[in-house]
Amino acid sequence: MTTPQFEVRRLASPVDPAFSAMTFPLYRRLLSLEPTVRHPEQGDPRRIQPVAIGAFEAERPVGLIVAEQPLGDSEPAELLSLFVAEGERGRGVGGALVAAAEQALAAAGVAEVRAVWTAGKPAIEALERILARHGWTPPAARTVSARFRPEKMLTLPLFSPRHLASLDPGFEIFPWAELPAEELAALRASNEARHWISDGLEPWSYRGGAGYDPATSVGARHQGRLVGWVLTERIDDRLLRWTVSFLDKRLSRRGRIVPLYKSSLERAVAAGYELCLFVTPVRFPNMVRFIHKWIARRAEFIGETRSAGRRLTPSGAGAPRLES
Ligand SMILES: CC(C)(COP(=O)(O)OP(=O)(O)OC[C@H]1O[C@@H](n2cnc3c(N)ncnc32)[C@H](O)[C@@H]1OP(=O)(O)O)[C@@H](O)C(=O)NCCC(=O)NCCS
Repeated sequence: MTTPQFEVRRLASPVDPAFSAMTFPLYRRLLSLEPTVRHPEQGDPRRIQPVAIGAFEAERPVGLIVAEQPLGDSEPAELLSLFVAEGERGRGVGGALVAAAEQALAAAGVAEVRAVWTAGKPAIEALERILARHGWTPPAARTVSARFRPEKMLTLPLFSPRHLASLDPGFEIFPWAELPAEELAALRASNEARHWISDGLEPWSYRGGAGYDPATSVGARHQGRLVGWVLTERIDDRLLRWTVSFLDKRLSRRGRIVPLYKSSLERAVAAGYELCLFVTPVRFPNMVRFIHKWIARRAEFIGETRSAGRRLTPSGAGAPRLES
């Protein structure tokens, strides 16, 4: 496992605190290396074993890879973060960490490993190059996300009273939290009878429909019928995510969902949110176009999430080898 310059090895508890700054705040708790649940903040109960491998230069921590190995089922493992100290990049440390993580997971009987990341930063080219060299599938786009300040987004000409007047067919926009349970049940029944809501955009498709932010989630009725929604999720005091938005296709031409977005944005400003995150899977090309055509004009960041994976062979013959 050694080269003349650096060494990579699986970390055991207690992990040197110097590694903590080498992964995302969300994953720092995994450095306890205790079995835990996957995404407690998203209510995901699946159990995982954290795997952390460090790179050392003369015993000084210079790189870290964090992965999660699923416990108790056959789901793929996931690489969660990869980091190499700035002065140590470009000499194989990142590649050696990926190889070591693959080997540790294969040795634990994992058949497949995956990774999801956000493109846009220069280091991502290095990451994608490492994965390609290790036989991973080519990166596939999954979502496009935009981050912006709600008050700045409201200055888009799209939200001007004149433009809105031409778009709004007379919606009654209301706080989603006030939707009567019977109306939601009727919506479900009508969609079962005549599948008119796009898959994945039903209000119940995300965490069973619970947990939307009451201050900023809105619904719209048209002539008394529930036809659309913009549902959001509070990430923390400052950050709001727009999770699901939909308008009945019979009304949705010419951007008619815009009045709902405006209402949600105004409520986000009033509730004190500083940043919004708008995320859409790439399988909704209209939404992707909307991000590039409009949201991009006021966004601080536009990024694409990508994913890739590879199958692992069990330890022994053909197992991924560590670079040496
Ligand atoms: C991504 C990262 C871990 C790579 O570490 P590293 O030790 O430099 O990686 P390696 O030396 O093993 O390999 C880097 C590869 O990418 C290539 N590369 C580096 N910078 C590149 C760039 N800007 N564009 C294209 N390729 C690049 C290198 O040439 C090398 O490929 P090669 O082996 O075919 O020559 C490191 O840049 C990093 O920590 N970045 C910040 C954190 C981050 O963004 N992590 C990824 C998301 S979690």
